[in-house]
Amino acid sequence: MIAPSSALALSEDRTGPRIVAVGGGKGGVGKTVITANLAIALAERGYRVAVVDVDLGGANLHTVLGVPCPDRTLADFLERRAPTLQEVITPTSVPNLCLLSAARPQLGMANLKHASKLRLLRHFREFDADCVLLDLGAGTAFDTLDFFLAAHQGVLVVAPTPTSVENTYHFIRAALSRKLAAAAKHRSVASALRRAQEAGKGSLQSPRELIARAKEMGAEVERLLSAELKGPGWSLAVNQARKLRDRELGPKMAKVCREHFGIALEYLECLGDDESVWDSIELKRPTLSAFPDCAFSKGVRVMASNLIQGGGTHA
Ligand SMILES: Nc1ncnc2c1ncn2[C@@H]1O[C@H](COP(=O)(O)OP(=O)(O)OP(=O)(O)O)[C@@H](O)[C@H]1O
Ligand SMILES: [Mg+2]
Repeated sequence: MIAPSSALALSEDRTGPRIVAVGGGKGGVGKTVITANLAIALAERGYRVAVVDVDLGGANLHTVLGVPCPDRTLADFLERRAPTLQEVITPTSVPNLCLLSAARPQLGMANLKHASKLRLLRHFREFDADCVLLDLGAGTAFDTLDFFLAAHQGVLVVAPTPTSVENTYHFIRAALSRKLAAAAKHRSVASALRRAQEAGKGSLQSPRELIARAKEMGAEVERLLSAELKGPGWSLAVNQARKLRDRELGPKMAKVCREHFGIALEYLECLGDDESVWDSIELKRPTLSAFPDCAFSKGVRVMASNLIQGGGTHA
C-alpha cells in the first residue's frame, strides 16, 4: 500500500516519526482544516498518525476533527502532571489517528518556556507513530517559527488573497531570519553575514544573494551555513481558491521562493473554496469523513500523495 521509498515512510537512517508542520503567516486560511483532513488522508493510507494542536493560544483542532473537548491535554504534559505524551492522547473515530490537543489551555501556555519547547519537540521526535502532524497558529511568533523549523517538512497554507500571500512571504522571511540568527552563533558566520550585508548595501539584496555572498567568504563559513540552513523541506498548498487563475499562484510562489529566498518550495495542491468544508464544520465532523467525495476531500488526498512522494529540498 505504501511505497517504502516514500518521503513519509520510516527510512533506514531515521528512527522516530516524520514530523510535518502546517503553518503560514495568515489566520483563517485553513491551516487547521487542512491539518485535520491531511492527517485523516494519511491515516487512511495506513500510516499511524498523531495530529497535534500546537496553536497553544487558540486550540480548535479537536472541533474540526469532531472530538469532544478532551480532558487530558498538552497542558498536563507541559505542567508535568503527565510525564509522557502517551498519557495525553485523545483517540479519534478514525483508525490509526490520535490527537494531542491543546484545548483547556493554562495561563501562559501560549508563551512556552524555552526548556518546555525543547522537551515538547524531543517527545514529538520520540513519539510512537509514523507521522506527527503539527497544526500551528497564525503569525510569526518565535515559538511558531521554531515548531515549523524543527519539522522535517513544513507545509505553508496560503489563500489566494494579496494579504495572505504577503503574510506567507513574511513568514518565510521570518523563518529564514531565525535560522540565520541561529547560524550566527558561529563567529565566522556572524562576521561573514555582516560583511555580506555591508557589501550589498545600496543594491537590493535578497536573502538568497546574502546567503550566497556569505558562503563565498570561506569554506568553513560555507560548511557551517549549509549545515545550519538545512531543513525543513518546504511545501505549499493553496486553499480556498475561487477562480481559475488561483491555480497559477502555487507555481508562481514556488518561483519567487527559489529566486528570492533560495528555497526549493514544493507545490502540493490547490484546494478550492468548498461548501462541504463549512457544512462539515457545522456538523462537527471532519470533511473527509462527512463528505469523502467532495472536491476538497479529493484535493486533500492528492495533497497527501504529493507529500508522501515529495519531501522538499533546500536550494
Ligand atoms: N477549502 C475551504 N473551503 C471552504 N471553507 C474553508 C476552506 N478552508 C477553510 N475554510 C473555512 O475557513 C475557516 C478557517 O479555517 P481554519 O480554522 O482551518 O483556519 P486557520 O488557518 O487554522 O486559522 P487560525 O490561524 O485562526 O488557526 C474554517 O472555519 C472553514 O469554515
Ligand atoms: Mg488554526
